[in-house]
Amino acid sequence: MSTTNPIHSDPHSASAPDPALIASLANELFVSPPYPPTADSFSISGLPGLQSYPDTSSLPGIAALGEIPAGIPTPGSSFYFLDSNQAAPQAETRFPGASSGLDPERTPDLGFSARPFDPRAIRRDFPILDQKVNGKPLIWLDNAATTQKPNAVIDRLDYFYKHENSNIHRAAHELAARSTDAYEGAREKVRRFLNAGSAEEIVFVRGTTEGINLIAQSWGRRYIEKDDEIVITWLEHHANIVPWQQLCAEKGAKLRVAPVDDDGQVILEAYEKLFTSRTKLAAFSQVSNALGTVTPTKEMIEIAHRHGARVLLDGAQSVSHLRADVQWLDCDWFVFSGHKVFAPTGIGAVYGKPEVLDATPPWQGGGNMIADVTFEKTIYQPAPARFEAGTGNIADAVGLGAALDYLGEIGIENVTRYEHELLVYATHRLSIVPGLRLIGTAKEKAGVLSFVLEGFRTEEVGKALNQEGIAVRAGHHCAQPILRRFGLESTVRPSLALYNTCEDIDILTAALLRIQSGQGRRGF
Ligand code: ALA
Repeated sequence: MSTTNPIHSDPHSASAPDPALIASLANELFVSPPYPPTADSFSISGLPGLQSYPDTSSLPGIAALGEIPAGIPTPGSSFYFLDSNQAAPQAETRFPGASSGLDPERTPDLGFSARPFDPRAIRRDFPILDQKVNGKPLIWLDNAATTQKPNAVIDRLDYFYKHENSNIHRAAHELAARSTDAYEGAREKVRRFLNAGSAEEIVFVRGTTEGINLIAQSWGRRYIEKDDEIVITWLEHHANIVPWQQLCAEKGAKLRVAPVDDDGQVILEAYEKLFTSRTKLAAFSQVSNALGTVTPTKEMIEIAHRHGARVLLDGAQSVSHLRADVQWLDCDWFVFSGHKVFAPTGIGAVYGKPEVLDATPPWQGGGNMIADVTFEKTIYQPAPARFEAGTGNIADAVGLGAALDYLGEIGIENVTRYEHELLVYATHRLSIVPGLRLIGTAKEKAGVLSFVLEGFRTEEVGKALNQEGIAVRAGHHCAQPILRRFGLESTVRPSLALYNTCEDIDILTAALLRIQSGQGRRGF
């Protein structure tokens, strides 16, 4: 069930451009856009970051390789996705809509941001980006693997270790009070970020993987029985496959997998048909890490609930791109990793509906999670402490709070709008590279451009890009089933964040053109 999408059409289907032209283009493609923007520069409805979006007519030879498709904003165009009376252009990566988890009542929340959106200024907040790699300015396009950290987070960790460090909840002294306040303050920031009803619905974990395992091993072991069924999708990361396989093997339950179409979109009718009276759980991603597909989250949750199943939403790849409002989505659990959203590694969170958390036994036993212990019996704390045995990652939880404050100042809705435009721009730019095939052409995507380049192994492309200072992931992305769905074992995966710009995309495109023309193979 494939839909044709001209922007993603196979570049081979057009007549092959002259190799000499490509070689010269590769050297000429990157033209610094005027900055600060002039009246002649390409301005997109007041988004300062995209004022650097170059007018492609100024790029030599670009017209010969492909016109900007209809629907891509042109000078003076408005945000088509903001105009309620204007249909989104066809044959175009669409702005993620209500079905993907954005509450139309809250999107876009233009008043949410406390600072204007300017990706160049944002970039200066991330000191790691200001360095050369292999003699070239670092272009960080491996954001789906991990995001970089702003000064706000680095400074907050520094302050914590200099002024607040202590174990929490356990002592009468001043530093214990400071660190407890900082840790519990971070829990409240996660609550606000997800729009959960109460901070008691937020459990700190190491990350998405630990969060899913916690649910599988605590709720799953209590409630999944022989012949019960768990529904996942073909898009899932291994972290949302393996824990359910393990649980099914232990309990004699069945794992059922919803198929995707040739664009990498969940086939909703097929998904719904998988539900039976034995389905206890649906677990799926809001955004696919390998393809960037934004799933029709709201509809998928409603379908699962209609059939009496609980729903776990994996937000690892959505949190840096889209708002996830857990009350509006009505998911039973939401899990994410801090390091995907500008926070440190080793910290993440599980949101759970209160009635679900209350009915779930603890996972690990130890200190902090108990109310009273005798040799005969232990009485557990209520959630969230019941699920946080031992000393947690206190400092990094505080760092996560700082990252969410930082993102809140910028406004996640502004990030979503900017990244959507950047993704559309990048999709078009990559489409001029001969032999490049995008894998994952869903109508609603966020953050990811997975591709293969004819004549080159993916690791060759990754290494050659590294020679140019460009960081991408090349491999199976811990999502082998979905790549095999497309007959592949690996792809090259540039992935975007709020600090990436059109210039980054132009440098990537020029490097790929050089690789394709043979000039870029020096690094192999
Ligand atoms: N899950 C991370 C990725 O997709 C590591 O690259």
